[in-house]
Amino acid sequence: MTVSAATRKHAESLRDRIRHHNYRYHALDDPEVPDVEYDRLMRELLALETDHPELVTTDSPTQRVGDTPVSGFGTVRHELPMLSLGNAFSEDELKDFNRRVLDRLDLDSDAELMYAAEPKLDGAAVSLLYENGVLVQGATRGDGTTGEDITHNVRTIEAIPLRLLGKGFPRRLEVRGEVFMPKAGFKAYNEKARAAGEKTFVNPRNAAAGSLRQLDPKLTAERPLDMYAYSVGIADGGRLPERHSEIIDQLQEWGIKVCPDRRVVNGVDGCLKYHRNIGDRRDDLSYEIDGVVYKIDSLSMQGKLGFVSRAPRWAIAHKFPAQEEMTEVEGVEFQVGRTGAVTPVARLKPVFVGGVTVSNATLHNIDELHRKDVRVGDTVIVRRAGDVIPEVVSVILNRRPSGTRRVRLPKKCPVCKSRVERVDGETVARCTGGLFCAAQRAEALKHFVSRRALDIEGFGAKLIEQLVATDRLKTPADIFQLTRKELSELDRMGERSAENLVGSIEESKSTTLARFLFALGIREVGEATAAGIAAHFGNLAEVISATEDDLQRVQDVGPVVAARLRAFLSEKHNLEVIARLQKYGVVWAEADPAQAHADGALMGKTFVITGTLPTMTRDEAKELIQSAGGKVTGSVSSKTDYLVAGEKAGSKLIKAEKLEIEILDETALQNLISD
Ligand code: IVH
Repeated sequence: MTVSAATRKHAESLRDRIRHHNYRYHALDDPEVPDVEYDRLMRELLALETDHPELVTTDSPTQRVGDTPVSGFGTVRHELPMLSLGNAFSEDELKDFNRRVLDRLDLDSDAELMYAAEPKLDGAAVSLLYENGVLVQGATRGDGTTGEDITHNVRTIEAIPLRLLGKGFPRRLEVRGEVFMPKAGFKAYNEKARAAGEKTFVNPRNAAAGSLRQLDPKLTAERPLDMYAYSVGIADGGRLPERHSEIIDQLQEWGIKVCPDRRVVNGVDGCLKYHRNIGDRRDDLSYEIDGVVYKIDSLSMQGKLGFVSRAPRWAIAHKFPAQEEMTEVEGVEFQVGRTGAVTPVARLKPVFVGGVTVSNATLHNIDELHRKDVRVGDTVIVRRAGDVIPEVVSVILNRRPSGTRRVRLPKKCPVCKSRVERVDGETVARCTGGLFCAAQRAEALKHFVSRRALDIEGFGAKLIEQLVATDRLKTPADIFQLTRKELSELDRMGERSAENLVGSIEESKSTTLARFLFALGIREVGEATAAGIAAHFGNLAEVISATEDDLQRVQDVGPVVAARLRAFLSEKHNLEVIARLQKYGVVWAEADPAQAHADGALMGKTFVITGTLPTMTRDEAKELIQSAGGKVTGSVSSKTDYLVAGEKAGSKLIKAEKLEIEILDETALQNLISD
C-alpha cells in the first residue's frame, strides 16, 4: 500500500513541530508546551512511522537510538585539527598572555580589546558534522588529528539536533563543543548505580567520556548527557559572522545548544571580573567546570595571531584551583559520631586541593571503604569540591606498595570498647555504648550547644572534650551546673572567657520548644522535624504523652521517626535529664495545643529559595519550610508566594521583583514560621 500525500505531509509536520519544541526546550531553555504535549506528538509520529515504515527518515526525531550495537569504533580524521588550549593558573599568567596578544597585534592598550569569555566545561570534546543541515557524523577529539566515530552515540543526546533549524547554514558545517553530564544527572546516576551494586563514575568528566565510548547506543541513551557548542571547525559553502560571540549566537539560532553563561568582556580587567563571578557561582552552576576560557572575539584578530604548536595564540584557559589531587594515606581511623555511627576516615599526607590544605578525608562508611579498597600506604585521589567534605575518590592501584592489608571494621568501639554492631540492611555500623561512650557523649553535647540547638556561644569542641574526658560533663544538664571558678581553671581558659561562657550558658536557658527538642539529639529528629513537632503540640508535656499514632499526625513524621521519639521519651534516664534541664532554668514559651498551628504556619504557601543564606543551607531552609506546611519549588512564577533570597541571588530575584512577589531573608523566614 502506498502512503498518501496527506499522510506524508502529516508526518513531516509532526517532525517539524517536534524539532521546534526540541529547540525551545534544549537550545533556548524556554519550552513552549508542557512535556505531555511533546510526548503526545512523539507518540503520534511513532505510530505513524510504525504503520508506514517507508516514511521513516534518518533525521526523524524517533530515530535517535539505533537498534544494533557497533562492533568497534571507526576512526575519523579531523580535516581541521582539534586544538588544545594554553593554561593560565594565576592573574599574572593571564596578564602575560594579554600582553603577548597586545604586542602581536601592535596595540597600546586592551581598552578596546574584546574577549569572548566562557566557562571551561569539564566533559569530553566532540565534533559534529552537519551536511545540508543533517547530522552525518559525530567524533571524539582523540589526539586532535584523529578521533573515534561516535555518531551512533551522539545521536542519542537530545540536546544535539539531528537536523539544523532555520536557514543560511553552510552546506558543510562542523560544530565543536563539549558533551558533559550535568551535576544533578551525575549524582542521580551514581545513586542508582550504587543502589544496584553497579560501578559508579568518579567524576562527571569520566562519566561523559565513558558514556560516549559505548558500543551499544542504548547504554549511551540512558546516560543523562548534555552538550554546549563552543566553536566551529569546517564551514564550507556558506558564511559565518565576523565575531566568535556572534557565531555562537548564530549556532543557537540553528538549534544548537550553547552555554548560557558566556559573555563578551572588555580587556584583561573584564576577564578577571568574569573569572571571579563564575568562580563565586561555580557551586551553583548545574554543570561542572574547571576554569574559564577567554577567546579574542574578532576573527580577523584571531587570524593575525595564529597558532603555536597545538594551541591558538588567541585563546587561553584560566583555571581554578584543582578539585582533585593525589596524596598518600598515612592511616585509616574510625570516628564515632553522636548517634554512635562509626565512620572510617583517611589520614592523609597534607595536600593542597580545592583551595585548602586537606589532611583528612571521609570514606563515608565501611561498604564504601571496601568498595574502594583504600589501604594504609596507598596513593589515592582526593577530591574537595566547593564546601563539601573532602573525600577519597579512588586508589591508584599501580602505586600500591607491597604488603598492604585490607582495612576491617573494628569489632569494638575505638573509644569505649563497646561492641560495634551492624544492623542488616543498614550501611552504617554503630557503637552500642550509647551515652556510656565518651565519643557519643561528646558529640551529643557538641550538638546540644550548637548554634541551631541551645546556641551556647563560646562552648567549643575542645572544651567539651576536656570536660567529658574528666567526667565533669555526663549529660547536657551538667552544663548548667558549671561554675565560673571551675571553668577558669581549665586549659586555655582565662577568667574573662570563663565569665563570658557562664554568661552565654545563662542566656541559652531561654529558648524555644523546637530548639529544645532538636538539641536533645534524638535520632532522625532534625531541625525541621523538631519544629514541626513543636508547632503541632505546642508544649512539652503533650509531646511526652503523645503516642506513636499522635506523633504521626505531624507532617513529615512517619513510623520510623515516631518510633524513635517514643523510644527516647520512654527512657527513664532521658526524662530525668529533661527534668533536670527544666529544674536548672531552661525555659520556653509553651502554647496551649489548641492554639498551636495544627498544620504548620506556612500551609498552602509556595516558596522558592535562591542564593546563599547566612546560616542555613538551601536544603535546610527547604526542610524548615516543609515542616511548617509550606511547599518549595524550583522556579519563580505567578504561583510563588515568597522568594527566600540570600547572597548572590540572581535571575530568580529579578523575576520575583518583576512579579512583585514578597522577598524574605533568612531571619524574615524564621519569623514568619514562629509568628
Ligand atoms: S575552545 C582552539 N572553549 O578544553 C580552542 N574549549 O584544552 C579549542 N573546553 O579540548 C577549544 N570548554 O574540550 C573551548 N568553552 C570552551 C571549552 C573548551 C571546555 C575543552 C575542550 C578542549 C579543551 C582544551
